[in-house]
Amino acid sequence: MQIRPHIGNMPPYTPIEPFEVLSARLGRPPEQIIKLDANENPYGPLPAVRQALADLPFLHIYPDPESRALRKGIAEFIGVPMESILAGAGADELIDLLMRVFLEPGDGVIVCPPTFGMYDFDGRLNNAKVIEVPRREDFSLDLPALCQIVHRERPKLLFLATPNNPDGSLPPADELDEVLELPVLVVLDEAYIEFADPHGELGGSLSRVGEVLRRHNLVVLRTFSKLAALAGLRVGYGVFPDWLMPTLWKAKQPYNVNVAATTAALAALEHAEQMKDVVKRVIAERGRMADALSRYPFFSLYPSQANYLLMRVRGIEAAELKRRLMMDYGILVRYFSTPRLRNCIRISVGKPQDTEALLRALDQIAQEVT
Ligand SMILES: Cc1ncc(COP(=O)(O)O)c(C=O)c1O
Repeated sequence: MQIRPHIGNMPPYTPIEPFEVLSARLGRPPEQIIKLDANENPYGPLPAVRQALADLPFLHIYPDPESRALRKGIAEFIGVPMESILAGAGADELIDLLMRVFLEPGDGVIVCPPTFGMYDFDGRLNNAKVIEVPRREDFSLDLPALCQIVHRERPKLLFLATPNNPDGSLPPADELDEVLELPVLVVLDEAYIEFADPHGELGGSLSRVGEVLRRHNLVVLRTFSKLAALAGLRVGYGVFPDWLMPTLWKAKQPYNVNVAATTAALAALEHAEQMKDVVKRVIAERGRMADALSRYPFFSLYPSQANYLLMRVRGIEAAELKRRLMMDYGILVRYFSTPRLRNCIRISVGKPQDTEALLRALDQIAQEVT
């Protein structure tokens, strides 16, 4: 039996630990764990979403393979025709779908690290040549390098998270315009765009969804995981150019978006004003958290337009800080060990009481290290 070598030789993806497993390991009930490690929305689904899920009638029937109702709802929400929208089991599914549709073995995919790990993971899974164009020290894009490499390598796809994970930066509009002039299909991953809009307009003025139909080389991915707190249900969507839609329809799994996810996402869209309130709360808390955290001498923070803050840690090992927060206080943060993110941690924005608990823990840890 012969496994395909590019998959056999792949490093495994390290997913986050399931909540119940973690709770058992820490000896704390889940309610006493403050989970700030995966950029989830701490407010959870809206009451109307929970109610819609509780009332679900047809669980024994397969979902609509074309997700018609959901795509219609999304179309009204973002102002793009439903014919240009495809729903997926999270944005993650659509990243993989795009790669499966485009890549022959060895074809180039450009990623700009440090960034979201799934672009690299799916690239390897699909036997692509993953070409890294590292970001600058401040996480901005290295545009001259990007242009040079696109022209030299002629990659099929270029993935950009806007805002970027893990630092939360959003490239200026003119830089994105320049990227979109490159001869490559550009995939803008707007998983966090709603948190970048200064007026809490759920991505409105900053999102590029409205441009997809005017350009032939742009795809925009969005998700309900962060905005609507539906990460556990797996539902996202993409806006794609017309020429690509028929192929995506052929290649996608028929029942990719399940009934619960569809119902929940639709109920969330019907209460967009309430989602706006949640987003505004997260944005306000991000500001408060950034002010408070920047007062600790051992942190230097990066400005973020998403629902998390990246910081470099000085005078204490970031791995040890993460361990202490987790073991002694039940607070989970994300630690990175790659060279570019050396001694960095990323903390998702939680509720005000989560920030309070974090600050109390940090005060105690600070006393011990200073
Ligand atoms: C940049 C980025 N894109 C996509 C995702 C995944 O989105 P989804 O939950 O819709 O698969 C994440 C999740 O953390 C992310 O950080």
